[in-house]
Amino acid sequence: KKPIAILISGRGSNMRALIESCAQPDYPARIALVLSNNPDAPGLDVAREAGLAAHAIDHRPYGRDREAHERALDAALRAAGVEYICLAGYMRLLTPFLTSAWADRMLNIHPSLLPAFPGLHTHERALENGTRIHGCTVHWVTQGMDEGPVIGQAAVPVLDDDTPDTLAARVLRQEHRLYPAALLRVLDPAGAPVPNAAASLLSV
Ligand code: GAR
Repeated sequence: KKPIAILISGRGSNMRALIESCAQPDYPARIALVLSNNPDAPGLDVAREAGLAAHAIDHRPYGRDREAHERALDAALRAAGVEYICLAGYMRLLTPFLTSAWADRMLNIHPSLLPAFPGLHTHERALENGTRIHGCTVHWVTQGMDEGPVIGQAAVPVLDDDTPDTLAARVLRQEHRLYPAALLRVLDPAGAPVPNAAASLLSV
């Protein structure tokens, strides 16, 4: 199994989906390390309860020196023998240091159908915009924020009575299916597609 790291900042529900997939014997990844920039991230406890190595590397002592913080992340990732990084609700902008060091080895999940709605508040913006089809994207991380090549996407309808919260919940359910499927596609490109109940809306 390929050793991966998951980087989080908060609740870690996408991380949990990856933990569940990695627990399956035939899934080609194992989680070597979970890192958070936020020591209070609830996801750290989720990871520890699952028996994983999970550490906070707080960005705050580094002040404005983003690269110094990333050097600390990078050292921990290399010490753990990590081969791929999955950003999962990791809410820090990355500098060229980390994106180039891990080029073609770092994935991100974003809660919109990129290139629509990069950045924050995607569900509010989708509703304001009148978007009828929304969703989530797993993509390679490049220097441009939310710009890298798409690995997979899952779509959901926007309903007339949606609020940002109801729409976010519908998208999140798809995120939890998409991320493990997209990572599987990266690690095992020739492998069978992941069985799912809505294949027409899941494209990896
Ligand atoms: C997810 O919806 C993820 O797509 C989003 O943050 C949430 C994290 O939830 N990521 C971004 O907005 C990245 N810019 P989680 O901690 O429960 O996985």
